[in-house]
Amino acid sequence: MAKDLRSFLSDYEASHPELVLRLKKEIRSNQEITALVMKLEKEERYPVVIAENVVTCAGNKSPFPLITNLLASRTRCAQAFGSTFRTVHLDFHKRSRQNPIPPQVVSRTEAPVKQVVKVGNDVDLTQTPALYHHYMDPGPYFTAGFLTTYDPDTGIDNCALQRGWIYDKRIVRFYPYNVSHNWLNIRKNRDSGQPTRLAYWLGHHPATCIAGQSRLGYPMSHFASMGGVLGEALRVVPSETLGDDFLVPADAEVVVEGIVRSYNLYPEGPFGEYGGYIGPQVPNPQFEVTAITHRKDAYWHDILVGHPDNQVMGGFAMEAAVYETVKQRIPSLVNVYIPLSGTCRFHVYLQLDNPWRGDAREAIMSALTVDFRLKHAFVFDMDIDIFDEREVLFAIATRSQWDKDVMIFPNVKNSIIDPSATWDTGAKGGIDCTKAPGEDFSELNTVDMEILQSVNVSDYVSPEQYAKIPIERM
Ligand SMILES: Cc1cc2nc3c(=O)[nH]c(=O)nc-3n(C[C@H](O)[C@H](O)[C@H](O)COP(=O)(O)O)c2cc1C
Repeated sequence: MAKDLRSFLSDYEASHPELVLRLKKEIRSNQEITALVMKLEKEERYPVVIAENVVTCAGNKSPFPLITNLLASRTRCAQAFGSTFRTVHLDFHKRSRQNPIPPQVVSRTEAPVKQVVKVGNDVDLTQTPALYHHYMDPGPYFTAGFLTTYDPDTGIDNCALQRGWIYDKRIVRFYPYNVSHNWLNIRKNRDSGQPTRLAYWLGHHPATCIAGQSRLGYPMSHFASMGGVLGEALRVVPSETLGDDFLVPADAEVVVEGIVRSYNLYPEGPFGEYGGYIGPQVPNPQFEVTAITHRKDAYWHDILVGHPDNQVMGGFAMEAAVYETVKQRIPSLVNVYIPLSGTCRFHVYLQLDNPWRGDAREAIMSALTVDFRLKHAFVFDMDIDIFDEREVLFAIATRSQWDKDVMIFPNVKNSIIDPSATWDTGAKGGIDCTKAPGEDFSELNTVDMEILQSVNVSDYVSPEQYAKIPIERM
């Protein structure tokens, strides 16, 4: 059986029933689901949330259950392709670069996503449970939809998570950044006076979704790269209304097909963005929906933008790219972490093994060139656990002197989503928190290793007593 959202869910729910919340009670797609997840998030709980009775923004009972928060946990994302919290980015990188697997074309009858087909006026996207996430959003959005276009010159596919506002029953306004490969394909069609055929597909195995964030060359097939990460060929099937050469994933939950006929731009947004703040309204294209196809009992996949569901899964590709770039120049680099506290975009922690003079500063400079969103780089020694932010802050406090260890690069390209930047430019910088190489540095407080290993809390405190000691966050 092909790997898909269902195969993942049934394995995951069997092994982690406590981490799949199936909500039976009615809940509204207008901000109520966001509010619920925000409350869980505040308590540092990141279960998969499946809302079985959603009231849509149009006020009707949704024909689809909604699944969200699927990608909010780094551990769950790692488990999706047999990796771990600390190595997920490195394993993802190896798989996406080294072993692309070309997609396999299957017939319509073999494709679960063709179980229900509606074309033209039979389509009404306002009946879907698409979420209205935050209070300034203009309405419900596609957020877990992979927008797919084809390069008109080579016929190579490109998929990217790009938001789409359900403006009307059959009209979607969408946001392809001007550096994205989908935008390059759309621009080629615009410049040659051709319409653009495109489709959103949503709901697939988490490994497929994470692989969709790989930064590939242009034009390069995301379907092949997804197959590499998934460990098997992604099954694809011809579209209903865009021609047989326009292929979409056969094992997705939902596919929405459409055409950009004119390249006029329309106001889209404002929208609660990945950085945790409301992003501006932008002039964007719109497409006319030509068909929707879905499984009989399809899940509508949502990604909660500006929350861990969006931030965590979007950070792996960046971590992998930083590792690749910095490792080429600084072989002492051992690991990289782009933490949730910096929205998995703005901060990067680099760990070096016995760096030599200049290595840490060189590492800061190369890391910051990898992505315009990366803003602050911090470099640590091996005895600091870069995945534990208490240790990270301890090293910043005790291993840096800011007259010599801080680097600041003013007025460089930055993200417009960072409200402290001046539109799209701002300052980047880094702190060398390594011990000075080749010089004496005080040793950490500890006890003899033999004693440390021989003393166990359970020898002195019963499990019941231990469970009652409250955890205090300081
Ligand atoms: C949940 C989520 C939402 C995103 N929304 C957008 C978006 O609206 N527009 C966009 O251009 N990129 C968006 N991105 C980033 C792109 O998916 C990402 O940069 C992608 O690699 C671009 O691929 P491409 O250059 O192959 O087109 C989003 C990412 C995530 C994780």
